[in-house]
Amino acid sequence: MSRFEKHIFICENKREAGHPKGCCADKGSSGIRELFKKRLKELGLNTKVRANSSGCLDACAFGPSVVVYPEQIWYSGIKIEDVEEIIQSHIINNRPVERLFIKEKRFLKDG
Ligand code: FES
Repeated sequence: MSRFEKHIFICENKREAGHPKGCCADKGSSGIRELFKKRLKELGLNTKVRANSSGCLDACAFGPSVVVYPEQIWYSGIKIEDVEEIIQSHIINNRPVERLFIKEKRFLKDG
């Protein structure tokens, strides 16, 4: 039995200014991680669901990038206002938020 039911990984990779790949840190991913952690705690979910900072998830063009395990659902372009919808729909009700999926085939579970 695993300790956590779900893990949310939020890329907080930071690259130097002007790097062609850009980075999720420059697109506000730290605030997104902080809000995930805060809301999970407020909702009493922090013992079942873990929100962790990650390094580059190799989805830089789509950042801020977020992936949820064990479902392997990849989210792209997440904004601070999307966090609550992901928590309510995906984390609590097990209904991943399709409109926020990375649309590229290699990130789709059945792609
Ligand atoms: S910098 Fe975030 S996925 Fe690469």
